[in-house]
Amino acid sequence: MLRDAIRVLVANWDGSYTVPSRRLYPHQWSWDSAFIAIGHARWAPRRARSELLSLFGAQWRDGRVPHIVFNPKVPDGAYFPGPDFWQTRAPSGTATSGIIQPPVHALAAWKTHLAEPDPAFLRRIYPRLVAQQEFLRTARRSPEGLISIVHPWESGMDNSPAWDLPLQGVQERPTGFVRRDIDTVNAEERPTDRDYERYVALAKAYRDSGYRRPGAFHIEDPLFNTAYGVAEQALAKIAEVCGLDPEPHEREAAAISAAMVEHLYDGDLFQSRDVNTGHLIHSASAAGLTPLMLTALPGEIADTLIATALDRFALKDGVLPSFSPSAPEFDSVRYWRGPSWINLCWLVWQGLKDRRPDLAGPLADGMLTMVARSGFREYFDPFTLRGHGCWDFSWSAALLLDVVAEHGLDGLAAAGGEVGEELGGLVKADHVSDQVPA
Ligand code: SER
Repeated sequence: MLRDAIRVLVANWDGSYTVPSRRLYPHQWSWDSAFIAIGHARWAPRRARSELLSLFGAQWRDGRVPHIVFNPKVPDGAYFPGPDFWQTRAPSGTATSGIIQPPVHALAAWKTHLAEPDPAFLRRIYPRLVAQQEFLRTARRSPEGLISIVHPWESGMDNSPAWDLPLQGVQERPTGFVRRDIDTVNAEERPTDRDYERYVALAKAYRDSGYRRPGAFHIEDPLFNTAYGVAEQALAKIAEVCGLDPEPHEREAAAISAAMVEHLYDGDLFQSRDVNTGHLIHSASAAGLTPLMLTALPGEIADTLIATALDRFALKDGVLPSFSPSAPEFDSVRYWRGPSWINLCWLVWQGLKDRRPDLAGPLADGMLTMVARSGFREYFDPFTLRGHGCWDFSWSAALLLDVVAEHGLDGLAAAGGEVGEELGGLVKADHVSDQVPA
């Protein structure tokens, strides 16, 4: 399994960074590169540093780190929407998109340093990471102190049922574009054509505002805000190594945590808030569990989140679905509407390691079991553990290396038989096509 993980990362390496997938995502993606760096750190720390520095090489003057950095050697039309659509470049001259993704990069830089200490690398990347956070504070912070996103692609969980309601407000139906994703992946496992029309309409409107004005989709999302807070936690540690004051970062991490508790917590789970209406969007997205990573989260709220994770996400099973199977919108195989993703499991695992090692262990075993059963797929049916989306997906390989380095492989055999049993009990309706427990 470890050899195969490295094979995937080597095959997807493009000289200074790693493509998430050769066919489906043939350029550099922002949060993918952060997760991939965390894996590289375990076997080739130079690649981890290169991965991050190469991404930040395309940082904009305003500090934003674009969600895609295009490789000019990849033919036009290999990916939609490509450079012709985004019509923008980084100061370095590289074509990029103009939207962002969750800022998990400071954590990746810190983990890269932990794997092979390199203060010079930290000194080089620290100002860029700070500029990334500054962009969010300047361009995306609400009076409540929360950071907003302007496109489902910015959430990283593009097709989450949490976005169904805000997307209803997008009426435009752009024509004349050709999806490339369904050339590679079965359409049943990807967003619908109607979803794509809305994605394109929103991206166009934002582009046409000079990448400045939020439009119909303007959301404060718990995963994105958690990533922002976790970045401040990591920046505090990085600042210390660089001989700088960690205190402003610690203060910022505490402030975002408090703002999230005040405005996004519904008593069970963290939810998204629609900035345009001021209302919470109640959904059963596992994004709402990621605040477990915030060290300033009050203990009783962490306990409630864990109870919710056990009750509505069958956390004990070890295969955390991206959306609760007890909710009617759940779909076990469609992109971000229910399947298990290694990165989301990994984020929640980070939040559980110190708080609840008894639950972190099964989650680590669950990640290993999915990969052992189905390979380095993009996502996994949480019931059958069958793989879906693309093959040889880089962050599945990278994060597996991190999990094994820290957790080991011993629990794998023991975990195999139990996976899926608790989840089966959560299903209320017949919206799961294939309910066979693994
Ligand atoms: N994740 C999106 C896609 O599916 C865009 O970044 O292409």
